[in-house]
Amino acid sequence: MSLKNDLLIRTARGEEVERPPVWLMRQAGRILPQYRAIRNRLSGFKELVETPELAAEVTIQPVDELNVDAAIIFSDILVIPEVMGLPYEMVEKKGPRFPQVIQSAKDVDRLLEGEKAAADLNYVYEALKITKRELAGRVPLIGFAGAPWTIFCYMVEGQGSKTFSKAKKLLYQEPELAQRLLDKITETTIAYLQHKVKAGADLIQVFDSWAGILSPAQYRRFALPCMAKIASSIQEVPVTVFSKGAWFILEDLKGVDCQTIGLDWNIDPAFARRQVGTEKVLQGNLDPCQLYAKPEEIEQVTREMMLRFGRKHIVNLGHGVYPDTPLDGVKAFVNTVKGYHY
Ligand code: CP3
Repeated sequence: MSLKNDLLIRTARGEEVERPPVWLMRQAGRILPQYRAIRNRLSGFKELVETPELAAEVTIQPVDELNVDAAIIFSDILVIPEVMGLPYEMVEKKGPRFPQVIQSAKDVDRLLEGEKAAADLNYVYEALKITKRELAGRVPLIGFAGAPWTIFCYMVEGQGSKTFSKAKKLLYQEPELAQRLLDKITETTIAYLQHKVKAGADLIQVFDSWAGILSPAQYRRFALPCMAKIASSIQEVPVTVFSKGAWFILEDLKGVDCQTIGLDWNIDPAFARRQVGTEKVLQGNLDPCQLYAKPEEIEQVTREMMLRFGRKHIVNLGHGVYPDTPLDGVKAFVNTVKGYHY
């Protein structure tokens, strides 16, 4: 099936395009009343993630409602620890929680890895196939995974944290054990993403949401090699790497075999361009809170942002859209980009 709107893919491949494409991280599931309607008649988040027809439906909702240039498959980064042997719970209004966590070498040894683990995520691959069929080429479908460092954080802490100091403690106290765990996550993620590409993902994004809590030295030692290995393992479709908060590592990301680098809103586009050079495409980076402003102001700052980035740019926020963002703000953002021309 060829794509009717392939702007995202052409941009990611470095082709000259008429305007930047636009989509929003976490567009599926957080902001739309249509999502909440489906979600409210189910037992919880996991039922939605694990039911391919419904996951496909909520993946397509933002394409219908917001007219964005891409769909991102509805799922979560935490399905990976689950198939490795650490199931997660999604606690209403609080977030994810793991009843068991990684504390010792024995815990790491017990984990499944690679294809053995990834083969269990058939519901995700099925959701991608259904979504591709139902999108019928309207826009590209983005597949994603968490980066090993971010998954490691959840597997060691068992939940979100401001500092992730237990996860960091393991890096400092037992670096070899930490490395073994990171390697297992990396192998599983590679197998998983290859399935996603086979199931129809047109682009892959790797989310390193907790990159910014590492020092540059720790990031280079523990996080970057896994990220680079994953990016190199995907040659069939473009890859985007989003290391949130890691402005200090941009120059190193230049050497990663990916097409696009995601930026959070703390990074100045000109600074990022200087660090990564002219080859990579940049994605981002409006402050998600900017969408609380009046639509006219959103229009103005979005235009200014596009001017600042220039070409080789995919418009997005600097992190996921917040659940209470007014839809009018989101629409002002998307429509400004769609009405723009270089
Ligand atoms: O981008 C999309 O629209 C696709 C869906 C998507 C979800 N999670 C669905 C979700 C994606 C790409 C993710 C990635 C994810 N999940 C990340 C990386 C991106 C980031 O935000 O930094 C992280 C760290 C997680 C882990 C996670 N999942 C947390 C911390 C939470 C609770 C807070 C929240 O609401 O995001 C989740 C739950 C989750 N994942 C929801 C959705 C729609 C909310 C669950 C609900 O419906 O109640």
